[in-house]
Amino acid sequence: MRFLARLDLHRAATELAERFGPLVRIRVMCFHCVIITDPVLATEVLRSRAADKMRLIYSFLDPFLGGKSLLTGHTDEHWKTVRKAVSPAFSQGNMRDAFGHVLDCTMALVEFLKEGGPERVHNIDNLLLRESMDVIGRFGLGKDMNALASLKTGNAEETRAVDALLGSTKEVSKRVQQYGRWWGLWSANVRGGWEDLGRFRAIIQGLLDHIKAGQPRPGSFGQLLLAARDPATGRALSDAQLFPEIAALFFAGIDTTGHTGTFILYLISQHPEVEAKILEELDSMELSITSERPRPRPLTYPDLPKLTYLQAVIKEVLRMYPPVGGGQMTMSQSHDITLANRLVIPAGTAIWVPHHAIQNVSFNWDQPNAFMPERWLVPGTEYAVTEKLPLPRGWYTEPDADVAAGTDGVPSHGAAGGTDVDESGNSKRPKRYFPFAEGPRNCVGQSLAKVSLLVTTATLLQHFSFRLADEMGGPEGVRASERYPLVIGLANGMSMHAIPRPGVT
Ligand code: HEM
Repeated sequence: MRFLARLDLHRAATELAERFGPLVRIRVMCFHCVIITDPVLATEVLRSRAADKMRLIYSFLDPFLGGKSLLTGHTDEHWKTVRKAVSPAFSQGNMRDAFGHVLDCTMALVEFLKEGGPERVHNIDNLLLRESMDVIGRFGLGKDMNALASLKTGNAEETRAVDALLGSTKEVSKRVQQYGRWWGLWSANVRGGWEDLGRFRAIIQGLLDHIKAGQPRPGSFGQLLLAARDPATGRALSDAQLFPEIAALFFAGIDTTGHTGTFILYLISQHPEVEAKILEELDSMELSITSERPRPRPLTYPDLPKLTYLQAVIKEVLRMYPPVGGGQMTMSQSHDITLANRLVIPAGTAIWVPHHAIQNVSFNWDQPNAFMPERWLVPGTEYAVTEKLPLPRGWYTEPDADVAAGTDGVPSHGAAGGTDVDESGNSKRPKRYFPFAEGPRNCVGQSLAKVSLLVTTATLLQHFSFRLADEMGGPEGVRASERYPLVIGLANGMSMHAIPRPGVT
């Protein structure tokens, strides 16, 4: 119980796995839960449809998002309709558009940081959340949220939008962890949480009114949601159905990308050798700003796949700080589930696949606590390594099944006809890296997240070197302030200096 009440909940399962191994059974009051950090079993759970989202847990988000949504509902016909409707918004074709929005928003952040000068301490986390909010507003809903601009204009409503989002996620996680919090309305802290939820809902209502009144950008998820048809009635989605979908996309897109950007800048600030290699890569593409080249050529969309080292850095940060670190909680109410042909999980037992744990336990990774972007320069790093699979070998063979050996010798569970890919061409090999989840409920917005993180990091590092402010108390202070209000973040943000590079004017 004490484990589940931890403020850094994402690390609780990691410590349990390190102590008790890749399969742990816990009981919380009358609930039974199996925690799986073995790559083969975790991959099997996430890819199969035998278990579905555990609504008991995800329903805590209903008062925040205004009801069941793409993110929190069961894998049913309604989910299928919404998922199919919004997916084209994140197609590769649309990412060129996204690139332009992210670059504009990052340049607004660059100008803000330049004005502050090297001495000023910025809450980088808050600024990156503002940037993400501006990107999602423009790209997804055709609305300028002015989250960054409001720092200058002082528009109170726009300035407080990020605080309302952060306050709401904090309130939801407290409701999960603090039994009886719902009834504590006499406490100012609880009332503050309700107020944040109210303010967040007012923002979403404003966005819904905006897309209904105007013409949202063609191909944006706002426009695609308006065009979707309810499978039950054949009619357009009602306001009550649209509201939670907009809220879910808004929240899921901003919190994850914003906090990840923060951890990227933090880890780079602690590793000058990594920063030097990123600069070398930018320089080799004539993108770095120097005294001799104060105005390099602009970053372009075709540059993104060529930033291979920076991509490795981002992957490594997503390994160490996967925003949805708690991972996925699934369950079957109606039938037992059998994994690897031998582990029977009774109906009604929660199956917890914690992403932070899988990506950071020592039985899945060499030197899991070391920040080593280089490991991602080796192809296939996201897949489990045969010799390191944590359960006894007998677990990984399926005597009756048609099992093919993967290229590294890992059995591909259920691979038919000796192939190692499924009918969509995706590898069937077990994974040990799930920052964007896996299987049918994986992240629908991951293409946007990847473009956002690459463009934001490349552009910020072109202009600045980031240094941790003294008030953070060094890496120990940062570690102590890790929090998990639905997404891995920090108690009071991340205070940093942005030091302009020579040549930046
Ligand atoms: C670094 C950035 C991101 C990470 C690491 C991330 C990760 C994830 C993960 C792990 C899930 C599964 C959650 C669960 O089952 O509990 C998820 C689902 C989802 N994400 Fe993301 N995400 C990111 C950015 C985005 C963006 C930019 C958007 C859209 C604007 C988005 C929209 C969604 C939605 C709607 C779902 C639910 C999908 C479904 O169940 O069908 N995410 N994401």
